[in-house]
Amino acid sequence: MLKLPIYLDHNATTPCDPQVMEVMIPYFTQLYGNAASRSHSFGWQAEEAVDYAREQLAKLIGAEPKEIIFTSGATEGDNLAIKGVFEMYAVKGNHIITCVTEHKAVLDTCKHIEKLGGQVTYLPVNKEGLIDLQQLEAAITPRTILIAIMYANNETGTIQPVKEIGALAKKHGVLFFTDATQAVGKIPVDVIKDDIDLLTCSAHKMYGPKGVGALYVRRKNPRVRLTAQLDGGGHEKGMRSGTLNVPGIAGFGKAADICRQQLETDGKRMSQLRNKLEKALLQLDGTYLNGSKTNRLPHVANISFNFVNGDGLMMGLNKEVALSSGAACTSASMEPSYVLKALGVADNLAYSSLRFSIGRYTTSEEIDFVIEKVMKVVGELRASQIAN
Ligand SMILES: Cc1ncc(COP(=O)(O)O)c(C=O)c1O
Repeated sequence: MLKLPIYLDHNATTPCDPQVMEVMIPYFTQLYGNAASRSHSFGWQAEEAVDYAREQLAKLIGAEPKEIIFTSGATEGDNLAIKGVFEMYAVKGNHIITCVTEHKAVLDTCKHIEKLGGQVTYLPVNKEGLIDLQQLEAAITPRTILIAIMYANNETGTIQPVKEIGALAKKHGVLFFTDATQAVGKIPVDVIKDDIDLLTCSAHKMYGPKGVGALYVRRKNPRVRLTAQLDGGGHEKGMRSGTLNVPGIAGFGKAADICRQQLETDGKRMSQLRNKLEKALLQLDGTYLNGSKTNRLPHVANISFNFVNGDGLMMGLNKEVALSSGAACTSASMEPSYVLKALGVADNLAYSSLRFSIGRYTTSEEIDFVIEKVMKVVGELRASQIAN
């Protein structure tokens, strides 16, 4: 039996894997020590759990456990990476290169940097959402301290040429930070192979709990240093003070472990479901895929439906299918997505776009239902427009 509503908004957040929940529970009720308490077994057990999670997450991204700093999520990680580098490397320069389709956690942090006197270059993207590597190289100056380009986009799933960006950054002696919130746990990510110096990820995007994330900070070739943005007890090697969220971190570790083990099978299964959905919907007249068809996360499809009203589309679907649209509420008015606009998508098509993001537990029957439902709603909306 199909259970409604169907959840296809996994880029917003994912359900917690039951195995993750199981790992977390004892750290609320029995093993509730503070990981910084050095004088008793409660503290030692909590610290052990955190160290183990550090290993599990490090293994997923090819890092060393010591290079993992736990945070409250990717927003905090993005802030710490960018502001922390800006302050620490002020003697070297004040120029940061980023891209127009970054998440607001990066873009707004960069705006903050500009207010502090920093210089930021916002690279454009082509219609697939990809940056141009020649433009990137041309933007590097002797004052450039950081390249901040996301791994995969949250709205379109487009994957940037991370390996090439890492190589360019290395060649010019500039640090490379990537917001990999949507990529880690979904596709292979390796900080060594990709020459990544700093990377953020978030547990709730990979079947872990909300409110926990991590920042990878490279320790050699080069050793990256950061100015802390939260002062206090000196936790996390002084880079992020604050009592650690031990249950959340233990769950994050388990989530990372499951993702590592299931990466290939989950990826294949989800891309088959995504392709089935996409193939069916793109057969409708006036439908367009947004972003790259080839360099893309396996579980994401962003599709625009011409000749329909975006609000009507959402209202027709959202009782039975949970989705994101290409329009976002900004101070009470609907604005077309800045990401889609940057790809050159016209406003009307951005308004009437849907982001389908499939998850580990999505079934083929659910996809069949969604295909039928979307086709029906689009058909009805178009027919009513003609009638009017
Ligand atoms: C690319 C990207 N960066 C950052 C974030 C923020 O993550 P968090 O919710 O962990 O703060 C998100 C979440 O939507 C995201 O997709």
